[in-house]
Amino acid sequence: MSEFQLPELSYEYDALEPHIDALTMEIHHSKHHQAYTNGLNDVWDEMSEDNQDKGLLILLSDHEQIKPEIRNRFNFHGGGYNNHELFWSSMKPDGGGEPSGSLKVEISKVFGSFDDFKKKFSADTAVIQGSGWGWLVYEPKSKKIQYKSTSNQDSPIVDGVVPLLGLDVWEHAYYLKYENKRPDYISAWWNVINWEEVELRFSRAENTAKALFSRHYD
Ligand SMILES: [Fe+2]
Repeated sequence: MSEFQLPELSYEYDALEPHIDALTMEIHHSKHHQAYTNGLNDVWDEMSEDNQDKGLLILLSDHEQIKPEIRNRFNFHGGGYNNHELFWSSMKPDGGGEPSGSLKVEISKVFGSFDDFKKKFSADTAVIQGSGWGWLVYEPKSKKIQYKSTSNQDSPIVDGVVPLLGLDVWEHAYYLKYENKRPDYISAWWNVINWEEVELRFSRAENTAKALFSRHYD
């Protein structure tokens, strides 16, 4: 049996309509995420047992541990696997609105207001060149949240930050419905965010950072 399985969605493919259409969801999950899963399993089989024991996230946090000849493939498929897992679970039917509690306070502190955060996230993610992701992350050295963009399937974990919320802006995520209008897809996506899940990640972010980046805490 393969080490990694395609994670099941907690909602149906059509559950995020009209914001994200059912066919896009089906292809994105069952074909694209499946391909990252298969690619990760293939590269995983070429890993040393010692590295396999460390687990996916620890290896993402420090590529130096991986033999150079498989590093790029691991980065692409391992990042793609984890990024999509985070993506599916940070959306839900009838989502959207605004975060609450300490995350809301932190967003206002860092970005000015939720609306300012939304504007910055949308604008910066709309102009990512080629394929990539827009993120809200927790940066453990400053202990602050920040916006970050990544290229291709690079995981924010590679750069030493904890992903809280990510938006996939590969064309496969939106082109069937939105064609070349990436900003329209981004506007629609705010209506399906599962803020409870993002708040949970934020509440655990410091512990996640310690688990992933312990070498920075020595
Ligand atoms: Fe994707």
